[in-house]
Amino acid sequence: MSLQKALVLEKAKTPFVLSSIPIPKPGAGEIVVKVLACALNPVDAAVQAIDIIPNVPYPAVLGLDVAGDVEEVGEGVEGYVKGDRVFLSAGYSMAYGGLQQYTLKSVADPDIGKIPSHISYSETATIPLTFATAAIPLLSANPIGAGLNPHFDPKVSFDGEPALVIGGGSSVGQFAIQIYKYLGFSTIITYASSKHTEYLKSLGATHIIDRTQVSLSTLPDALKSVTSQPIKNVYVASGIREGGEEAGYACLAHGGQLVVAIPVTKKQEDAEATGRRIYGVYGSAKIEPNIEFGKEMWKNLPRLVDEGVIKPNRLEVLPKGLLSVPDALPRFLTGGVSGVKLVVNPQDTV
Ligand SMILES: NC(=O)c1ccc[n+]([C@@H]2O[C@H](COP(=O)([O-])OP(=O)(O)OC[C@H]3O[C@@H](n4cnc5c(N)ncnc54)[C@H](OP(=O)(O)O)[C@@H]3O)[C@@H](O)[C@H]2O)c1
Repeated sequence: MSLQKALVLEKAKTPFVLSSIPIPKPGAGEIVVKVLACALNPVDAAVQAIDIIPNVPYPAVLGLDVAGDVEEVGEGVEGYVKGDRVFLSAGYSMAYGGLQQYTLKSVADPDIGKIPSHISYSETATIPLTFATAAIPLLSANPIGAGLNPHFDPKVSFDGEPALVIGGGSSVGQFAIQIYKYLGFSTIITYASSKHTEYLKSLGATHIIDRTQVSLSTLPDALKSVTSQPIKNVYVASGIREGGEEAGYACLAHGGQLVVAIPVTKKQEDAEATGRRIYGVYGSAKIEPNIEFGKEMWKNLPRLVDEGVIKPNRLEVLPKGLLSVPDALPRFLTGGVSGVKLVVNPQDTV
């Protein structure tokens, strides 16, 4: 039996254990992927520290964003052959987690695609979870999302309109900026640290309001110096529970749409009276009610990445593969991740 290295969480709220476990065999409709990059997310840190997600099937392997090579193909698999370069959304379990050297994936899942030839494994691993968290509630049809472009119609344009992204420096925020740009918004304002100005402008932001100088509570006033137009589209990617949602709502014009990067939002009491709508989802294409749009999204995502419409996040590749993960994850909980995605290559584990 061939063995691989995996970072295992034996039980809730315990330290990770670097283990040798069997390389999985693919069932019907499944592929084995040799993981060449796995991106880390704040939720990985929160699961390990406080078991934030219900029903994780411990022992479990974490890691939700994977890029790698198809290593083995199960019975009945069509569309994938050994050697294909793929990126995908992984899951929290021994077989399907990303923080191991080989993982399983069902090709019936919507959230897998082929990596464009000029993009690296590490770059594409930055995309799946946080792109979905921005794209599903912005683009998918009402009532799941704001319905800005459910079918990726190239004719859709919001030319002349402004949009606001609170937390543009975050991974989700970087994708929200790019999606507003893809939709043709003319003015894309983001509330982020000014040290990210050049980078966020390269993604499509037109104005940065410096979060180190302007408090969330004074953001509505600060916006007035940027545009006099009513803002009907706002995405809150960061600081959601620390006043970000309230600030986003306060910046939103009557009849506008507020999207937050969490599935459950606080109910705003006057939302109905003012025609303001609020959306928030899990960033997963393979759970209801997201599946129909999720299939459409993953059909388009590799092309959008190939064409440079969607650029991967800026990234920091951590040394020593899986061994660096236990020390890296707490950075999410202490503000130690700033405008980058953390990525490991499990094959580098020594
Ligand atoms: N619904 C879902 O399924 C789902 C999925 C993924 C993520 N999320 C949520 O989305 C949020 C963002 O996740 P992420 O992975 O994108 O995070 P991340 O990249 O780790 O976020 C770090 C960035 O957030 C910025 N930031 C922190 N607080 C801020 C504030 N009050 N205002 C503006 N910027 C702020 C930091 O700015 P500086 O650079 O200035 O320090 C840093 O650049 C998190 O709350 C996460 O839980 C939800």
